Amino acid sequence: MRIFFTGGSGKAGKHAIEHLVAQGHQVTNADLVASGRDDVADLRIDLTDPGQVFDAMSSYARREELEPGTGVPRYDAVVHFAAVPAILLRSDTETFRVNTLSTYHVIDAAVRFGIPKVVFASSETTYGICFADGEVLPAYVPIDEAHPTVPQDSYAMSKVVNEATARSFQARSGIDIYGLRINNVIEPHEYATAFPAYVADPALRRRNIFAYIDARDLGHMVECCLRTDGLGFEVFNVANDDTSVGIPSAEVYERFYPGVEQRREIRGFDTFYANDKAKELVGFSPRHSWRDLVDT
Ligand SMILES: NC(=O)c1ccc[n+]([C@@H]2O[C@H](COP(=O)([O-])OP(=O)(O)OC[C@H]3O[C@@H](n4cnc5c(N)ncnc54)[C@H](O)[C@@H]3O)[C@@H](O)[C@H]2O)c1
Repeated sequence: MRIFFTGGSGKAGKHAIEHLVAQGHQVTNADLVASGRDDVADLRIDLTDPGQVFDAMSSYARREELEPGTGVPRYDAVVHFAAVPAILLRSDTETFRVNTLSTYHVIDAAVRFGIPKVVFASSETTYGICFADGEVLPAYVPIDEAHPTVPQDSYAMSKVVNEATARSFQARSGIDIYGLRINNVIEPHEYATAFPAYVADPALRRRNIFAYIDARDLGHMVECCLRTDGLGFEVFNVANDDTSVGIPSAEVYERFYPGVEQRREIRGFDTFYANDKAKELVGFSPRHSWRDLVDT
């Protein structure tokens, strides 16, 4: 596939691009900064500017594309990861502006150019726990995609708005638009640096619902979404099967979720961030657990 990927120079995007290139896809990375990869067409653009987005999505990406003499090839899919990825990085207003406008422009352009598939990064923060003032408990566990999304912060609000934007563009166009409610992205080197602290103090993971997603498994999830057609608009929780803490999940429940409705039996190190929908609808099958690498 010829893929228009936004935010491919960032933490999550670079692993997703790595995965997509390894699968043989041709990737254009649209980002404020270049990825520097030889096997990717880097295009430095600001996605909050609709002119640049519409231009980039309908232009040649590499010199070889001039050779056939058949005009600009169309993209087969758009993967939109670019964003201000948390609170406290920019002003709240700027975070909301950048995230909502860039997503509107990217999906609008994809729809107008007849690109049949858009996969975009939403977030676990939509559930309102991660960046809440004080402690907010889940309405029930494990949290699935039907859980209310009423966050308090500008970053998560921007992601809720983006999901509404995507749903509306999908209704108008009929193309496939899949949103990924990505949990905390962990790169392979972070298992050694970050996880010993999580083992020592599980409370550190409360705001992430004790879950995580391996960056490589996130790349695999993007590929699953590109391979699965015809679902219309869907959102998917994206997390590994286990928690990111050393104590069993029953103990996590007792310590951190007293009185919270438990919708199914939680066994072993089962995640509280249900990934069943991704498994059932697109064949998500995460492979990388931190437990293989770090002593608990
Ligand atoms: N990292 C996580 O744990 C996590 C968790 C849930 C969701 N997400 C989402 O996943 C996506 C990627 O997150 P990340 O951690 O890789 O973030 P990151 O900051 O490492 O990467 C984001 C990329 O977007 C680019 N970007 C920002 N504004 C842009 C603009 N106006 N025009 C063009 N490019 C722009 C940046 O240059 C950067 O390369 C984001 O949408 C984020 O909200 C991340």
